[in-house]
Amino acid sequence: MTVKIKKCNRDDLQILQEISIETFNDTFKNQNSPENMKAYLERAFNSNQLEKELSNISSEFFFICFNKELAGYLKVNINDAQSEKMGDESLEIERIYIRYKFQRKGFGKYLINKAMEIALRQNKKIIWLGVWEKNKKAIDFYKKIGFVQTEAHSFYLGDEEQIDVIMSKTLV
Ligand SMILES: CC(C)(COP(=O)(O)OP(=O)(O)OC[C@H]1O[C@@H](n2cnc3c(N)ncnc32)[C@H](O)[C@@H]1OP(=O)(O)O)[C@@H](O)C(=O)NCCC(=O)NCCS
Repeated sequence: MTVKIKKCNRDDLQILQEISIETFNDTFKNQNSPENMKAYLERAFNSNQLEKELSNISSEFFFICFNKELAGYLKVNINDAQSEKMGDESLEIERIYIRYKFQRKGFGKYLINKAMEIALRQNKKIIWLGVWEKNKKAIDFYKKIGFVQTEAHSFYLGDEEQIDVIMSKTLV
């Protein structure tokens, strides 16, 4: 039984696109309209957009595999790739998604530890993320592993304005 983390490159585009759509759908489709979901999925996960993100030197994507099966993925950003102006001492976890059947088995925590390792290696002081206020499961997960709410900002899913809670953790 082995857990492996693999840094993604442009050859992983198609698999990244598939897992991004699958996990976003599974997480949010019950709480959002099909129109808004469709608009978001098309904008965020089209091939051109993902290719651009994979080529950005200030972003990194990782797959987490369990016994060679893809269990989830992580996207982290530094510097100007961060979705808020948090400065050069911060690292953003922009996406962390574990496929449904692999949830609650420690993979999310494993990816958070990976993000912290990257942040510490680059002498970052803070690790932060934005999470939809209605995503209670994720908020409970982040709280459990030591993140605290620091602020909130709005975000659009299709034409619906939603509130993202900003949570962060100071690194020592
Ligand atoms: C949120 C998510 C990343 C957590 O990953 P996970 O692999 O399911 O969580 P883990 O098994 O690593 O859990 C780590 C710890 O958090 C706790 N935890 C996880 N989910 C929890 C929940 N819903 N409520 C309370 N605690 C939770 C676990 O009990 C565990 O605690 P322990 O270390 O004391 O055993 C994952 O469930 C997921 O991908 N969800 C759907 C996508 C999503 O919402 N992503 C975040 C978008 S901002």
